[in-house]
Amino acid sequence: MPMTTRRAGAWSTAATLLTAAVAVASMSATEAIKQRQLEMEGVRNGMAALGAIAKKEQPFTAEAVGTAAGKIADHLAAAAELFPEGSDAGDVQTWAKPEIWTDRAAFDELLESTRQAAVGLQGVTEPEAFGPALGKLGAGCKSCHDLYRLPKQ
Ligand code: HEC
Repeated sequence: MPMTTRRAGAWSTAATLLTAAVAVASMSATEAIKQRQLEMEGVRNGMAALGAIAKKEQPFTAEAVGTAAGKIADHLAAAAELFPEGSDAGDVQTWAKPEIWTDRAAFDELLESTRQAAVGLQGVTEPEAFGPALGKLGAGCKSCHDLYRLPKQ
């Protein structure tokens, strides 16, 4: 690939990232809270589909598992961008704990390792591997909620 094309590609990637960062930065705290709660609901819907497979209410197929786990990974990736500084409070209720912003690196790591667990589950093709992979993902949700989310009454 000629140098100029490659450089243009890198610039357009940088521009895209910058646009995304500006979009999030200009988003109000209220908007970020609403959006991340929606993303988390998407995560929950994916978990519900996987839970039905675990309880054998739905048959295990690699495709169904891959689809649900892929959605979870995508929603978690989207949620990761929706905890900007200053969004610990807004015009709508949030259950996010202030520790997210004082302990930012650990929070981001936990989000990323949970997303990785979803990506791992996405690749599961054998029923025997499903339970352990789902357990790993569920443990990620629980650790983060225990540490960084207030209990919902
Ligand atoms: C790294 C942290 C983290 C991980 C991992 C995580 N969550 Fe969350 N989740 C949160 C936080 C923080 C909130 C509260 C957001 C708010 O109210 O602003 C939340 C909120 C939620 C909600 C409530 C949304 C609403 O409408 O108020 C659901 C449901 C949820 N998470 C499901 C899950 C599931 C299922 C997983 C695992 C597959 C998961 N979460 C993984 C941090 C996390």
